[in-house]
Parts: sequence; C-alpha cells; structure tokens
Amino acid sequence: MIVWDKGKIGMGYRTRRKSEYLVVFQKSPVRAKSCWTDHTIPDVWEEKAEKIHPHSKPLELQKRLIAATTHEGDAVLDPAAGGFSVLRACLELGRDFIGGDLVYGGE
Ligand SMILES: C[S@@+](CC[C@H](N)C(=O)[O-])C[C@H]1O[C@@H](n2cnc3c(N)ncnc32)[C@H](O)[C@@H]1O
Repeated sequence: MIVWDKGKIGMGYRTRRKSEYLVVFQKSPVRAKSCWTDHTIPDVWEEKAEKIHPHSKPLELQKRLIAATTHEGDAVLDPAAGGFSVLRACLELGRDFIGGDLVYGGE
C-alpha cells in the first residue's frame, strides 16, 4: 500500500483528509522478479497533482508504478480515466494506453 500525501488539507468531519491510499494487487507468482522492477518506491509519496480533473491523481507516482510493472510497448488499461493522467504517463513512458470514462471530458 502507498499513502499519497496530497500536500493540502481536504474535506473531513473530525480530522481532514490530506492523503489517499493506493493498493497494488499482483497475480501470482507474487515474487516473480521481472514483474516489479523498481524497489525504491517509498510507501509514503508526496506530490501535488495538477488540477486537470476534480479527482486528479499524481502523475509522477503513476509513472513510477507503470515503469516498475510494465515494459515499453505494453498496454495499460484505465477504464475510469477522468483527466487521463494515466494516458499522459503512458505517452511519456512509451506505453500503449487503452481507456475511457463514463463522462465525456471527465466529471
Ligand atoms: C477518481 S476519477 C479518475 C481520475 C483520474 N485518474 C485522473 O487522474 O484524472 C474517477 C473517474 O471514474 C469515472 N467513472 C465512474 N464510474 C465509471 C464507470 N462505470 N465507467 C467508466 N468511468 C467511470 C468518473 O467519471 C471519474 O471521471
């Protein structure tokens, strides 16, 4: 699990949220060496996301994860793409992208 520290205080009742959580699932074999190639990604990640979409996610973190788990030319699927930050990450990393969103142009 990675905690994304967004760098700004958001909504909340008693405490106010400054983070989101990201869980990575991997099908077996879980310890396959070629599946995860970057072992230096910290479990707490600080990044301010560019406000392209109401729920924009951190581009650099997504790039690190995509680079760690895919190879150049691989396809990455994002069926709820919002502001299409994963598409941008894929373009910058030389990955193919398959994706869309329920709402044209995001929410
Ligand atoms: C958290 S946002 C994605 C933000 C995106 N990762 C970014 O960085 O901009 C979730 C998106 O899922 C879309 N969505 C929700 N339900 C969906 C569905 N059933 N099919 C496709 N997209 C859906 C919403 O329209 C919204 O844009």
